Amino acid sequence: MFAAATIDFHDKRAGYRELEQQLAALLAGERDAIANQANAAALIFQALPDLNWAGFYRFTGGVLVLGPFHGKPACVRIAVGKGVCGTAMAQGQTQLVRNVHDFPGHIACDAASQSELVAPLLLRGRPLGVFDLDSPVVGRFDDKDRAGIERLAAMLVAASDWP
Ligand code: SME
Repeated sequence: MFAAATIDFHDKRAGYRELEQQLAALLAGERDAIANQANAAALIFQALPDLNWAGFYRFTGGVLVLGPFHGKPACVRIAVGKGVCGTAMAQGQTQLVRNVHDFPGHIACDAASQSELVAPLLLRGRPLGVFDLDSPVVGRFDDKDRAGIERLAAMLVAASDWP
């Protein structure tokens, strides 16, 4: 059984370091990408305060398709270049959105979402999909969250086999 200890995020860098250790333990010995995305979404949704959605969109058939997540049911398909997720995919770069209402073309899957952080899953520079975090709090994410989430995404990519 995996028991995740509660993480204190008052010191974000320390919090993310601890979350990295928990994710490493959770991924150890398993390379199935779907199973690892499912457990990563569950762990991160439970660990990080003030989230209403955490999950993955996979790039398949030329479009982003909903993958494992926690939160309310979400939009299934997102075109590359559309919304925050499609922009992260098209640019291969993390999108940190302080207020989703200020992001042109933001796709509202849950009306509660106010801010968003989306990191691409990069395999040797090739985006495989994106990892998306939504928060009901404006300005929930900062550069420490960006660094932490990019590191967690990189760990997930390295620990899994991809098509
Ligand atoms: N808001 C995202 C869509 C995905 S949901 O937030 C889960 C976007 O604009 O791409």
